[in-house]
This record gives sequence, C-alpha cells and structure tokens, in this order.
Amino acid sequence: MTDKVRLAMVGCGAIASWHLRAIEASVPEIEVTATVDIDPARANALAAETGALAFTDLSAALASDTFDAVDLMLPHHLHEEVATECLNAGMHVLLEKPMAPTPEACARILAVARSSNTVFMVAENAQYWPEINLVADLLAQEAIGEVITARACNFVPPLEEFFGGDDPWRFSQAAAGGGVVMDAGSHWIRPLRMWLGEIIEVVAVVGHPFPGMEPESLCRALCMFDSGVVAVFDSMLAPGPLGPDPLFRVTGTKGELVVDGIGRVKLYDGTEPRGTVVGQGNYLLSYEGELADFASAVLRGTPLAAGPEVAVGELRTALAMYRSHETRRWEPVW
Ligand SMILES: NC(=O)c1ccc[n+]([C@@H]2O[C@H](COP(=O)([O-])OP(=O)(O)OC[C@H]3O[C@@H](n4cnc5c(N)ncnc54)[C@H](O)[C@@H]3O)[C@@H](O)[C@H]2O)c1
Repeated sequence: MTDKVRLAMVGCGAIASWHLRAIEASVPEIEVTATVDIDPARANALAAETGALAFTDLSAALASDTFDAVDLMLPHHLHEEVATECLNAGMHVLLEKPMAPTPEACARILAVARSSNTVFMVAENAQYWPEINLVADLLAQEAIGEVITARACNFVPPLEEFFGGDDPWRFSQAAAGGGVVMDAGSHWIRPLRMWLGEIIEVVAVVGHPFPGMEPESLCRALCMFDSGVVAVFDSMLAPGPLGPDPLFRVTGTKGELVVDGIGRVKLYDGTEPRGTVVGQGNYLLSYEGELADFASAVLRGTPLAAGPEVAVGELRTALAMYRSHETRRWEPVW
C-alpha cells in the first residue's frame, strides 16, 4: 500500500481552490499530481501551485497513470458522465454535491460505484463542519432537553467566485438542475438531518428574486421529520445587502442552541441572558475533515463518516420542495 493518495483535481474552478487550501493546511496524505479542466488557464494555474501535470481532457489524463483518485468539482449536469468514466477507470472518486441532479442518475452512479472496487464519496462537507458536530454532541447530552423545533437559514449575498463571470452555469436550470436549495442548500439540510433524523415531508414556496438566475434563488420551507419535529429551512441568494441572522437555531424544552455566522455555538439555558459560547468552529475546517476522511478511506479502508447514499436525501428533499411549490401541498421526500 502507498502512503499517499495521488489525486487529480477535475474542474479547477472556485471550490477546487478551497479544496487545495484544505489539503495544504492539513491533509499531507494527499498529493495533487494532476489537474484537469477544459479551460487550460485554470488547469495550468492549479498545476503551477501544486507541481501537478495539467490536462484539458479527462480521458487523456486517465490514460496518463499519474493518479489513483479524482476530486470531481464540476457543474452538476456533468457529474454522472464524469463520475461513471472515472469509476470505470478504477479511480477512487470524491464527487462534489449534489451527486447528480436526479435520483435516477444517483442510482446509476451508486450502482457503478458498488460494482467498482474503489472508494466512492460525495463531498458533503457539512458532515465535517465542527459547529454542526458540536451541536450534535450537545443534543446527545440533552443540553437543551428534548428538541421542539429548529431553523436553518442560508441567506447569502453572491460571492464573485461562485456567481461571477458572464454566464455562470449556476444561473442555468439545465446545468445546475436547481437553485439555492439543490446547490448550497444541502449544507443546511444535512445538519438538520444529522440532528433531527430523516425528513419525511416538506412544504415549500420558492421564488426568483436574484436577477438573471433561472432556477430558484429563494426558498421558504417547513420540514417534517420522522420524529414529528418540524423545522424551518430558509435559503436565499440575496440581490441586496443582508443583516445578520444565525445560521441555525435548535430549540428544546430546556433552552436553545444557536450557530452564528462567525462559527460560534451559543447555549441559551437560562444561566446567562446573552447566551454562553460553548464552542468556536470554522466552516472552512469542514473541507479539511472531508478530504482527510476520503484519504483515510482510500489508504486504510476506514469507513466514511457518511456513505454516499446519504447524500441522496438532500437531493430528494430539494426535489420535494420544488414539487411542493407546484402542488401547494406537503410532499413526501422518499
Ligand atoms: N461543498 C461546497 O461547499 C461547494 C461550494 C461550491 C461548489 N461546490 C460544488 O462544486 C462543483 C463545482 O462548483 P464550482 O463553484 O467550483 O464551479 P466552477 O464553475 O467555479 O468550476 C467548475 C470548473 O469545471 C470546469 N469544467 C467544465 N466542464 C468540464 C469538463 N467537461 N471537464 C473538465 N473541467 C470542466 C470549468 O472550466 C470550471 O473551471 C459543483 O458540484 C458545486 O455544487 C461545492
């Protein structure tokens, strides 16, 4: 067994830089040996940073025998085709979320992954988000008693790196498969599932306040969990400035846990009116945990914190929200 994962970064755009920072910061077991992008400038830029070989064609890269694993960071409509090609080529695959824009495509990818003898992981970094895991521990310790309800709020302004350029693929329904719910929404839905169990039904309204964005840029939804708890899920790509709002609040019979935008976890249990800071996390650390988990699974065969099939749940939740907007009714998720 080798002691390093030889990794190809496929799609050298915005999130690739974040993954590279995480690898450089804390995952020495990964060595980036290839970069692949149809835009040669992007492939070359990441290659220059890492000493990797740059490619503009995936098939040529796969034939080069310079890597054993791929990190697929591509527009959503390409996920199935590219993941399938890489799995069939015997690669370990880390695939950005959503696994694919439809459950049928996810099922096909999972079938290929099961028949391959390699690691297949969906890059849902919220699974490794320190604040989220701290809240999970506190809930297990009954720090706020029994959970009554929760709210996840992902209202964000557009970051240039994700929404810049003349014709961002995120503004196209055909390329993205959905808007804020299917895209970054998964990072707010996964924590709710980690804390509260499975979402069985949703009711939602979507809107299009962001100019030029074809898929939804706003969603207001209620999520019913199998426990009977109902949580709020709010998501918006805001066309204008925003005031502060916690990312999450979980309300229990004995108090409340709040995760704010600067990574603090605060406990409101009646002892301190302004709340007690019980932890300080950092969203960016989630990428380090994610890439370390992938490397460990490849090198040592350790189980993933969450198998790839779990990610189908965020997709099904998003699709049920879209259906609910159309039918104006509660829609089942599964
Ligand atoms: N986990 C997170 O926090 C997070 C954040 C942002 C994006 N993402 C996900 O990462 C993926 C990529 O998003 P992004 O924001 O980096 O997009 P991006 O547009 O910045 O980068 C995508 C790159 O893929 C390249 N590309 C397109 N077609 C290609 C092909 N056939 N072969 C090789 N390269 C090709 C483009 O030239 C571009 O450089 C998406 O699945 C997105 O949902 C995840």
